[in-house]
Amino acid sequence: MEIAKLYLQNFRNYKNEKIQFSSGINVLQGQNGQGKTNILEAIYYLLTGKSYRVRKEQELIFWGENAFHIFGDFLAYERRLSLESHYLDKRKIVKINHVPCKKLSDFVGTINVVFFSPDDLIMVKGGPAERRRFLDLHITQLNSRHVHLLNDYNKVLHQKAALLKSSIQTSKVSNIEIWNEQLLDLGSKIIRNRWRFTQIIAKKSKEIYYQLSSGEEELSINYLALGHQDVEEALHEFPILLEEKMKQEIERQMILVGPHRDDLNFQLNGKSARIYASQGQQRSIVLSLKLAELEVIYQEKGEYPLLLLDDVLSELDIFRREYLLEFIQPIRQALITMTSAEKPSTEIASLFQVDKGHIGRIN
Ligand SMILES: Nc1ncnc2c1ncn2[C@@H]1O[C@H](COP(=O)(O)OP(=O)(O)O)[C@@H](O)[C@H]1O
Ligand SMILES: [Mg+2]
Repeated sequence: MEIAKLYLQNFRNYKNEKIQFSSGINVLQGQNGQGKTNILEAIYYLLTGKSYRVRKEQELIFWGENAFHIFGDFLAYERRLSLESHYLDKRKIVKINHVPCKKLSDFVGTINVVFFSPDDLIMVKGGPAERRRFLDLHITQLNSRHVHLLNDYNKVLHQKAALLKSSIQTSKVSNIEIWNEQLLDLGSKIIRNRWRFTQIIAKKSKEIYYQLSSGEEELSINYLALGHQDVEEALHEFPILLEEKMKQEIERQMILVGPHRDDLNFQLNGKSARIYASQGQQRSIVLSLKLAELEVIYQEKGEYPLLLLDDVLSELDIFRREYLLEFIQPIRQALITMTSAEKPSTEIASLFQVDKGHIGRIN
């Protein structure tokens, strides 16, 4: 999958800018604060309906304006696809091949994208919610039903939480049991999906990390479901825990059992990465995960997703940089941002200079 053209109107620091990309590696170079990340953000927004950085579309509008427009021409499975995303009067409008699209979820996943952002480092050092978000987002790209599962599960959580907080004590237990049944059913499916995805991604990222660290370090990733590494054990325990913890849940007015509290555990050479990994190692872990995801999507979909790498080269040693650039050579298209000091020796299809919201092609 690849992007052929991008046209931005009043998006971030772009007033009116057109870019034509090539297949292969496209480098966006420029000093800090010129608009390199904004380009990747626009593409990501167009493909997923979400910004990587903010929740409010308002922040994406060029200051002082009241709307933004993003147009992109893509190629996937030898077909051209034009996408538009408009935000005006606080409303989103998405068009596919010029036809308004009712539900964005019908479209998401048609063109896959893998985005490495420096913000992703929080996945290693941050709380479990970040890691669950990674898992769910990426499972969704391959299996859109996972979104519905999550939505249904969250609704049940919401209802159960309201019940736990309510002051009506009579019939509370039997009502909680009703919600627990659904929580068990939906939660078990979520656990299976996440566990299955982790198995695949863990194996691939282990191989990639091993290469990336010249065979020096071993990365292991485990999904911890209800505190268990063994998924069958977790699923067996699930109904028992729901029963056991009910009293405590009522006392504390909190839901204590379910996959909304699960985690992913990263280890380097058997030691917790969250506690011990250096900045460069964290970056390498996230990078290995993203490259593994790229391979998984390729295997499932038969085409490489679009790869967006933001500021990936800084803090990688020369060996790791070379490995990365080698790795992405066969990929159909990658967009990489960097400051000019990091210019790689690899063959580059297109080089762009980004300067105060203007983009010039250098080769
Ligand atoms: N809504 C906006 N309107 C106008 N300019 C913006 C807006 N949001 C961010 N910017 C500007 O965009 C620039 C940051 O762009 P970014 O792509 O993050 O830079 P970099 O090239 O370092 O990746 C900053 O100069 C910032 O002031
Ligand atoms: Mg940037």
